Amino acid sequence: MKIKDVLGAVRGRLDSAGIEEAWLEAELLLRHALCLGSVGLFLEHDEELGPSQVKLISLLVDRRVSGEPVAYITGKREFYGREFHVNPHVLIPRPETEHLVEKALEIVSLIKYPVVADIGTGSGAIAVSLAAEVPDARVFAVDISDPAIDTARLNARRQGVESSITFLYGDLAEPLPGPVDVLIANLPYVNSADCVASPEPQLALDGGIGGLDAIERLCNSLEGKLRLGGWVLLEIGQGQAETVQRLLREALPDARVGTIKDLAGIDRVVWGQTG
Ligand SMILES: C[S@@+](CC[C@H](N)C(=O)[O-])C[C@H]1O[C@@H](n2cnc3c(N)ncnc32)[C@H](O)[C@@H]1O
Repeated sequence: MKIKDVLGAVRGRLDSAGIEEAWLEAELLLRHALCLGSVGLFLEHDEELGPSQVKLISLLVDRRVSGEPVAYITGKREFYGREFHVNPHVLIPRPETEHLVEKALEIVSLIKYPVVADIGTGSGAIAVSLAAEVPDARVFAVDISDPAIDTARLNARRQGVESSITFLYGDLAEPLPGPVDVLIANLPYVNSADCVASPEPQLALDGGIGGLDAIERLCNSLEGKLRLGGWVLLEIGQGQAETVQRLLREALPDARVGTIKDLAGIDRVVWGQTG
């Protein structure tokens, strides 16, 4: 079979399985199986595939159709213009999390030798992106999952920023050795009932009944964790902005507090700056 015919068949199978981005995902699976870039795949459209290649692609498609995310199958996902290794121990980084990175970059561009903390680092998407974009930044990356920290460290090494990041195992901001200029957190914020069937780690998603357990605990533990004029940036889910703003105001009574919307117009980040 020619590549273009296999691609068409894979698209058809993914589409019938109700996978929304069947076109894109079919391409990602074929590129992964055949070790080709997007241009390579296009240029080789008329190449004949051997039976073992067709069999391998079919096995990958079986995994996708049975619910495994394409990023776990290929082991990678792009975030803020860089490729991150991902595996079932970490959340697959989401495009909406790039708003946290953008806001953090805006803040640290005004600070010399900024100190930044990424609480709940997962794959290291936020910590590694910031360390790569801001070479004079000192970054702390915290997670309560050892395999997540191993994954974040691998990504830091691959992006050449391992020496800018200190990886800390522990609960929320507790392991930080001192106050920081910007504390960023994309913690679990999904209601327990809504994440039981997810292939991604419960530890990364489950925010308890109401979804805000981890964020509330973080807000209540901010004392001594921020430098004067320091910032907190929290990613949130739909409908959580009001509650999280209140939590932040209670925790930091002198802070300015606000929100940032994502591209879909949903409040996605709650920020606070200490007075
Ligand atoms: C939603 S994921 C975010 C991962 C990554 N920062 C991203 O944006 O793609 C949340 C992460 O927080 C970690 N986590 C959950 N509870 C935690 C806690 N109490 N202390 C530290 N990390 C925690 C999870 O292990 C997971 O890696």
